[in-house]
Amino acid sequence: MSRKHVDVIIGLQWGDEGKGKIVDYLAEQYDIVCRFQGGPNAGHTLKIDGNKFVLHTVPSGIFRKNIINVIGNGVVIDPITLSKELDNLKKLGVDYLSRLKVSKKAHLILPTHRLLDLASEASKGVEKIGSTLKGIGPTYMDKTGRNGLRVGDLAGSDFMEKYQKLKEKHLALARQFGEIEYDLEGEEKKWMACLEDLKNLESIDCEYYINNAINVGKKILAEGAQGSLLDIDFGTYPYVTSSNTITAGVCSGLGIAPNKIGEVIGITKAYCTRVGSGPFPTELNDEVGERLRAEGNEFGATTGRPRRCGWIDLPTLHLSVLLNGVTQLVITKLDVLNNFEKIYAATAYEINGKETNMVPFDMNTITRPVYKEYKGWLSSLDTITETENLPVGAWIFITDIEKKLGVPFSIISTGPEREKLILR
Ligand code: GDP
Ligand code: IMO
Ligand code: MG
Repeated sequence: MSRKHVDVIIGLQWGDEGKGKIVDYLAEQYDIVCRFQGGPNAGHTLKIDGNKFVLHTVPSGIFRKNIINVIGNGVVIDPITLSKELDNLKKLGVDYLSRLKVSKKAHLILPTHRLLDLASEASKGVEKIGSTLKGIGPTYMDKTGRNGLRVGDLAGSDFMEKYQKLKEKHLALARQFGEIEYDLEGEEKKWMACLEDLKNLESIDCEYYINNAINVGKKILAEGAQGSLLDIDFGTYPYVTSSNTITAGVCSGLGIAPNKIGEVIGITKAYCTRVGSGPFPTELNDEVGERLRAEGNEFGATTGRPRRCGWIDLPTLHLSVLLNGVTQLVITKLDVLNNFEKIYAATAYEINGKETNMVPFDMNTITRPVYKEYKGWLSSLDTITETENLPVGAWIFITDIEKKLGVPFSIISTGPEREKLILR
């Protein structure tokens, strides 16, 4: 009999679905919360007792006492961002040293990885990915290219030698992109200083740690970063991130077998957003889009960039459900639609005069999304704590979506605060 003790939380869109809030809420039902991929390109927002916290590298279970948080081997770590996060936690009195562990096999983002990210994006001009410029792509390139530096390397006496060698390689590469303004010396100095904070954390053999925990019956929650449509294999390539953001990434990003995975909790907003470049069939470049951005406060948690906004897109969600093996859905930001008289969901795409439910290889071939219209509920969800008390319009909207996706909703989120949830 297999023990399925690892549940997973995955973003089903282009990121920023509200993963941080839901992980923070669910964390108390688990013993360990783990990040398994991505890096400081992530920005996960938690709102607890009126205070807002944004986490980039540290898992969103960190505010819960008695829970261990693990930064898994699939994550890429920038010591500078991590150090800032740890500093903030210290100021808040969070005893992170006893709660946070990091895999020896997680790769390090060097200052020159960020330089390369900048240079690469600048060279692409209008075709730029819209990267967060945190050095994610170049770091994963070094990982697969077998050049990377890992947390475990910090303990070696030859670390500085390895660092210099990789840095020189990066500088040679960067020269091919032409002049880039970047204070390498300053960034390097900060980076070296911040390594000390990383060294102070307990570094672990994640694969053994997690499997041992599973064997003694501990419950583990894996926290996805980004979203399924940014997945390196199945996202809107090349406008994606550089890791497997889907459930498959949990196995390679923590060192567990697929048969250890239990519930897969897929998160979607009640509408859709995207930051950075790339196709977005239901994007609204009009006042409705502006309204979604304003009411949803859609500005990036990592870069502050305005997020592109549009209606919920069921063909892409359907693909995400399939890729991840989603067993339950969470819908967030339903409250953002409170004042819309009409709400839409794309149920299919029209391509060359034909309707399809499939996401095509090239999303730019989509002529237009096919929409279903819903009547808005025009009332606040603020005091609602039971599904039975939801306005009829909201109920019709969400039950229609779950029917179309074939997976039931388990949680409906109606505000940024930890307690603003309706459980089913
Ligand atoms: P993540 O990257 O998936 O963790 O999401 P972000 O933190 O980047 O973006 C989600 C934003 O929506 C944050 O500002 C959250 O505080 C906010 N948020 C989360 N759930 C809700 C919700 O149900 N309603 C509203 N209005 N805001 C929410
Ligand atoms: P969370 O975890 C939204 C986007 C960037 C860009 C593309 C590649 O908060 O949901 P990268 O820096 O990885 O090279 O950028 O991916 N992106 C995100 N968009 N939320 C995120 O994380 C993102 N992480 C990366 O905007 O389009
Ligand atoms: Mg985010």
